[in-house]
Amino acid sequence: MRRNAEQSCSFLSSQELRGRKTEMTVVKVALCFLMILNIFKDIRVNADMVDVCASCHRNATCDDKTDGSGGKVCNCMYGFVGNGRTYCQDKDECQLGKICGDHTKCHNTHGSYFCTCLAGYSPSNQMNTFIPNDGTYCHDIDECVVQGVCGEGGLCQNTDGDFTCSCQTGYKVQDGSEPFNPNRDAAHCKVIDCGSPPAVLHADLLSSTVNTHYSTELQYGCRDGFQWRRGLNSSVCGLDGKWQGPSLDCEAHCGPAPELPHTEVLWDNSTAVVHRCVKGHYRHAGSDISICDITGEWQVATLHCRELKLTINDLVVFNERCLRWNAENEGYKEKYTVTFVGLRDFEHFFSDRRKMLFTSSALWPVLCLNLLPATNYTITITAESTRATATVTANTSIPVPPTPEIKYSEVEASSPTLRLRRSTNTLDSICMYEVFVLPVEGVMLFDCSSSLSRHFSTQQGCDGGYVTAQIQLRDLNAEMNFTVGDQQLYGDFFNAPLQNGKDYFIILRTVCQWRKSRTQSCIIWAKTRGTHYIMKISALVTVGSISAVGSVIIVGYWYSWYCKKSSPRHFSQVL
Ligand SMILES: *[C@@H]1O[C@H](CO)[C@@H](O)[C@H](O)[C@H]1NC(C)=O
Ligand SMILES: *[C@@H]1O[C@H](CO)[C@@H](O)[C@H](O)[C@H]1NC(C)=O
Ligand SMILES: *[C@@H]1O[C@H](CO)[C@@H](O)[C@H](O)[C@H]1NC(C)=O
Ligand SMILES: *[C@@H]1O[C@H](CO)[C@@H](O)[C@H](O)[C@H]1NC(C)=O
Ligand SMILES: *[C@@H]1O[C@H](CO)[C@@H](O)[C@H](O)[C@H]1NC(C)=O
Ligand SMILES: *[C@@H]1O[C@H](CO)[C@@H](O)[C@H](O)[C@H]1NC(C)=O
Repeated sequence: MRRNAEQSCSFLSSQELRGRKTEMTVVKVALCFLMILNIFKDIRVNADMVDVCASCHRNATCDDKTDGSGGKVCNCMYGFVGNGRTYCQDKDECQLGKICGDHTKCHNTHGSYFCTCLAGYSPSNQMNTFIPNDGTYCHDIDECVVQGVCGEGGLCQNTDGDFTCSCQTGYKVQDGSEPFNPNRDAAHCKVIDCGSPPAVLHADLLSSTVNTHYSTELQYGCRDGFQWRRGLNSSVCGLDGKWQGPSLDCEAHCGPAPELPHTEVLWDNSTAVVHRCVKGHYRHAGSDISICDITGEWQVATLHCRELKLTINDLVVFNERCLRWNAENEGYKEKYTVTFVGLRDFEHFFSDRRKMLFTSSALWPVLCLNLLPATNYTITITAESTRATATVTANTSIPVPPTPEIKYSEVEASSPTLRLRRSTNTLDSICMYEVFVLPVEGVMLFDCSSSLSRHFSTQQGCDGGYVTAQIQLRDLNAEMNFTVGDQQLYGDFFNAPLQNGKDYFIILRTVCQWRKSRTQSCIIWAKTRGTHYIMKISALVTVGSISAVGSVIIVGYWYSWYCKKSSPRHFSQVL
């Protein structure tokens, strides 16, 4: 109001006081006076009473009333709102919704407004600003049109009102992550670089093929004296910025396999060699592998090969059943084939043919065979490696025959019957029983091994003993009853009756004999009673069983003296 008053008064002073209409001026002066006087009072001025147009607000226009009354009215100017006189305020059009359209910004001005496009959009009128409804719209700017907007190695991707960057193959994002915007983020793309080529032991870089940084390919080769062993001899710079490979193994190359006397190469992979002895030689000692060591030198095998000798020397038979020979090839595991044929000329259908394999690396191999007794063997040994062969003969002896089962008895009879159960023997065909009758007189010495078999008729000398029967075993059944003195012929021998009143020992001898070979065993079968002499087994009897006794000595008194004196030759024979 105060301001209005001042304005009115200043208007009055500057314009109205020039005085065209004095009465109006008076009114005005009065009004002005009143206004000043009533500075704090609201004084309504009747429009009808004053010039309406003069009361219009500075930003209002004075218009004819539309009702045809001819009056005036104050209207706020376009862009202002108010009562047209006391106030006309700016109207903020930007508050009235999206009047500028999509992707725009509305700018209000005093009494007006204008539109601009948002960042990333461009107005279709190519101007900086526009007003709505003039056909202008904001369209997206394709930032990617600008070269290098994402920097080196960047890949631009336009988006609505914006753009993003990622890194091309061969580049890797740095200081941030993908996707990024170079205007806002520190992230950028950097070329992938694996750095200097990796060093490989004992190998040199031969070539490098640069395709792009990341796929740079390196080729390696082993240095002189070394050789490539497997896999991969190239290396490629990977997308992770690391060299992939090489997995090159360069091994020292020692050159051709070392040569060893009398050997050949069985297997060779150029860093390891397996040797073996050539044909006709055998491995005597040492290792058979040469190894190429890291210095490129062969660690040479120590294999020692010996020549296979073509002989089996000094083949002998010992203990009647064991063979021994000189193999020459000491340390060589020789395979021998042993064949043997056994024949008996007392048994024409007999033959013992056998074959066996035997392996030995001994210098003097020993082989014991299970040979049958009383047989002529021809034994042949063949060495598998050399086919060397040797033959030897062996005649096995006749074993001491087993004594029959007897029941010792002491009887008083002129013709005692004695029983035995014979022991069977494979050599029965060359064995027999001999029954001795030995008068009990003084010192009696009976030699079982004596080949002397005196007949009753020729009995003489100191002991008076004789053979009363000779019975071939092959003619016997399992059991035999024999009656001493039955006056029969047994073999060539007469079974003479025993003398009354005399005491005798009956001795049974088993004899096995072929040609000059002979064995025997003796046993006292019985004694006829009527004597005071005592039978003892002397210290010469070493084996526990009487049946195995070689000599039976029956000890008496005076007869010994007589025998020694009268017939020393007979004595030794009988003994
Ligand atoms: C009238 O409007 C203009 C701008 O259009 C402004 O500068 C001025 O201050 C206004 N006058 C009044 C008295 O409000
Ligand atoms: C690399 O290895 C390949 C076989 O994988 C071979 O053909 C080539 O000769 C080797 N290159 C070199 C330089 O040794
Ligand atoms: C050769 O063979 C040896 C023994 O088997 C082995 O250790 C070595 O790696 C092989 N060398 C090559 C080049 O194959
Ligand atoms: C072994 O052979 C010899 C000579 O041919 C012969 O005299 C002997 O009786 C034979 N021995 C046997 C047990 O066959
Ligand atoms: C063994 O028998 C053979 C015949 O088979 C003969 O030539 C050799 O003389 C005999 N040897 C002995 C010790 O009896
Ligand atoms: C031997 O004599 C006994 C008894 O006198 C008798 O039982 C047995 O059958 C006889 N044996 C033989 C082979 O004659």
